[in-house]
Amino acid sequence: MVPPVLFYLNWKLAALSLIGLPLTTAISLGASRLVRRYAKHAAESNAEMQSSQIDALAQIRTVKLLCTEHEVFGQIRDLASATLRLQLKSTGLTAVVSVLRATVSGVATALFTWYGWVSILNQSMTLGGFLAFSAYLRYLTGPVTSLSSLLTDFQVSAVSLGRLFEYLDLKPEVTSQSLYAPRVVQASPVAYDVEFRDVSFSYGPTGKALHSVSFVVPGGSTLAIVGASGAGKSTLIRLLCKMDVPQTGDILLGGESIRKLQPIDVRSQMSAVWQEIGLIRGTLRQNLLLGVPTRDAARLKAVLEVCRLEELVSSLPDGLDSQLGEAGVRVSGGQRQRIVLARALLRESALLILDEATSNIDGHTESALLRDLLAMEQQRTVIYVTHRVHTAEYADFVLVMHHGSVDGFGTHSTLLSTSLHYRGLWKAHAAIEQAVDPMHALVGSA
Ligand SMILES: Nc1ncnc2c1ncn2[C@@H]1O[C@H](COP(=O)(O)OP(=O)(O)OP(=O)(O)O)[C@@H](O)[C@H]1O
Ligand SMILES: [Mg+2]
Repeated sequence: MVPPVLFYLNWKLAALSLIGLPLTTAISLGASRLVRRYAKHAAESNAEMQSSQIDALAQIRTVKLLCTEHEVFGQIRDLASATLRLQLKSTGLTAVVSVLRATVSGVATALFTWYGWVSILNQSMTLGGFLAFSAYLRYLTGPVTSLSSLLTDFQVSAVSLGRLFEYLDLKPEVTSQSLYAPRVVQASPVAYDVEFRDVSFSYGPTGKALHSVSFVVPGGSTLAIVGASGAGKSTLIRLLCKMDVPQTGDILLGGESIRKLQPIDVRSQMSAVWQEIGLIRGTLRQNLLLGVPTRDAARLKAVLEVCRLEELVSSLPDGLDSQLGEAGVRVSGGQRQRIVLARALLRESALLILDEATSNIDGHTESALLRDLLAMEQQRTVIYVTHRVHTAEYADFVLVMHHGSVDGFGTHSTLLSTSLHYRGLWKAHAAIEQAVDPMHALVGSA
């Protein structure tokens, strides 16, 4: 509405006063694209710097042991400098654009004022007409100037919003409110079959981790998974716990497809111990009873005995109520593993899964512990991954993994005669044992 009125009042003055508007709009539009690009790079660089800081803190012990403080600090400093440079470019460009805009609108105002006064002096316009014209003009230029300066601010915010939406668009693992409901582990376990049916899985576009894996573990029996490093053993366990979903094939728990179950419903039926040891800040008792529904003193005593933790408990100043971690008692790697193992046993779920859960414990103790554990858990389905092939002998079935495929499945004695790969692993392990401890190897083979 305003521009036609201005042209109606004085078309020459209107043309002169509006001549700067297309120019300032063009400058703002052109600069906003550049500002957006710099802001995007700055946000990415900032995110990378923060990830590096978190990684460096999480791995502080490795950084110290390798004496790489200087390198790690240098990496973070370089990323911080790059972020700062990009942010300065973006802010500097915004400042230059606003100066350019002010200059163009200043020149336009000077021309407009000069022409207005000339018109008044040669009486082609009255002073009242000029003042009315100026008032109308402010109605137009005010919002247009604000809009063009908003344009660059909007580009910076759009980058942040874009990154925020990337996270908001991620699909939640659990879609219902049930995540926040207390989850009771299935006590007094009902053993059921675990079946992998033609399962293939790949972590990314490059190379498959599992190829057409099929096997069935009957309910209440024990399965040992063996194979070289990178053979896909932990990937099998990840899929079983629904940490990932296979691209093809299916996993059935007691005949029910894992695809139909929420991850939390899968995990509440099982107790899993990973290669990474998960102790929390708190007392030994809190660590043992984390996620454990029952408080059965007799069961706790039996589990402590099987996990060879009685000696540790009696040596601690406050027994089970001793504080663990930085502010309390420091426990060794093997002790930590046994605490986490005891927690899994105390959960009494239908399925017990151990992924090299005893790898930090010496071979002799590990063998005895595993035998006692399997004797105690006879009614549960137990799946354990092990690098110490001799412990596979204690299981009802052995699964031999090789380059992501099943190389053999059966009892230990059958596999020794049918699977070349298993025999090779067994012999290699026996040779290592003999080299380390000839007496033990003799006893083991007797
Ligand atoms: N998070 C991941 N992202 C991409 N590839 C992965 C990931 N985890 C494992 N892989 C790859 O998948 C393959 C199988 O790995 P997996 O961890 O299952 O082996 P593994 O048999 O458990 O080995 P190890 O005995 O060393 O623990 C390997 O080639 C590995 O490089
Ligand atoms: Mg593994």
